[in-house]
Amino acid sequence: MKTIRDIDISGKRTLIRVDFNVPLDEKGRITDDARIRRVLPTVEYALEKGAKLILASHLGRPKGQVVPAMSLAPVAQRLGELTGKPVQLAPDAVGPEVEKMVSDLQPGDILLLENLRFHAEEQANDEGFARQLAGLCDVYVNDAFAVSHRANASVVAITRFAPVCVAGLLLEKELEYFHRAMTNPRRPLAAVIGGAKVSSKLAALHNLLRTVDKLIIGGAMANTFLRGMGCDMGSSKIEEDLIGDAAEIVAEAQRRKVRLYLPVDAVAARELSDQAPVRTLPVQEIPEGLMALDIGPATAMLYAEALEDAGTIVWNGPMGVFEMMPFSKGTAHMVKTVAASAALTIVGGGDTGAAVHQSGLAEKISYISTGGGAFLKLLEGHELPAVAALEKAAETA
Ligand code: 3PG
Repeated sequence: MKTIRDIDISGKRTLIRVDFNVPLDEKGRITDDARIRRVLPTVEYALEKGAKLILASHLGRPKGQVVPAMSLAPVAQRLGELTGKPVQLAPDAVGPEVEKMVSDLQPGDILLLENLRFHAEEQANDEGFARQLAGLCDVYVNDAFAVSHRANASVVAITRFAPVCVAGLLLEKELEYFHRAMTNPRRPLAAVIGGAKVSSKLAALHNLLRTVDKLIIGGAMANTFLRGMGCDMGSSKIEEDLIGDAAEIVAEAQRRKVRLYLPVDAVAARELSDQAPVRTLPVQEIPEGLMALDIGPATAMLYAEALEDAGTIVWNGPMGVFEMMPFSKGTAHMVKTVAASAALTIVGGGDTGAAVHQSGLAEKISYISTGGGAFLKLLEGHELPAVAALEKAAETA
């Protein structure tokens, strides 16, 4: 795909769609600025080339209303600190005032548009709104991998109206690593899938079985598989209606000769609390009243052994309720295992990325995706609508 490197942006009004959907605390302070840092190479490249920079993003889900707590003001400030340049925040994403600010831009200036989702038209993929955004620029750059699974105006419809459409450096990298891992990977290819619900990962599990050599399952979703295999699982969270689907995954893995790994032990507690006394038990022995909330040490060791010979590891979803100290060890162990591996290692998903960052081992992972939903869509084998639209626009350019 054509990228920002392939075109001349010097002196051009360059609108870069980024994903600055960062977590904020109750005082509106950014608690993790990774998504801002990760687009800096594109921003710095564009500044170096003398582009007039217009950045556009959504933040949160304001549902088409102006919600002051979801203003991009804290992001403008952080971006200014990171680039060492003043970042102007526009009062809106479109409209005459914004157009005036854009026409006043000089090469090397940065203007951040206000939250795109203050307009309902953004998520409606509205043509008129897309035209207005496209009218602000000479060049449109999609560097917002994390929202590229949404058919939104600023990533899909805009590609029909912007004069030139290209990918940013982050989007390019995200797709490149994903394809390195999933298309013609160094084998054995192992997928580690965790998280709370089988329902949200079902499509990904089915798709992964077509490609992977090993499938490792953790998190609360493992409970449903284990129940289907005859373990009582005490008071653990189970998706009763998905026990059949879980059994089908197990059967499909057997048919396809994919080695499937499930927990053999669990850290269990009566309640989901930092203070709860915990017990480590074989999965067959979790009594009524106790819930499995993390994989146990025997499972962590088993998974490390299973991953020892991997040529490629793709990991999405934590192994337990890692946000709470008593149930964080399984995920921490998996971070260590993946970080120590000589394989190509790709980690995706908001929680999984956060767990890796917390561990301080992020440098040891080949690639950490900025995508949550977008990464999962790729794991499901789907094309991302924004990427498809960009490719189409680049073809006809
Ligand atoms: C994300 O955080 O995954 C993206 O920014 C998309 O956000 P959304 O789920 O609100 O569309």
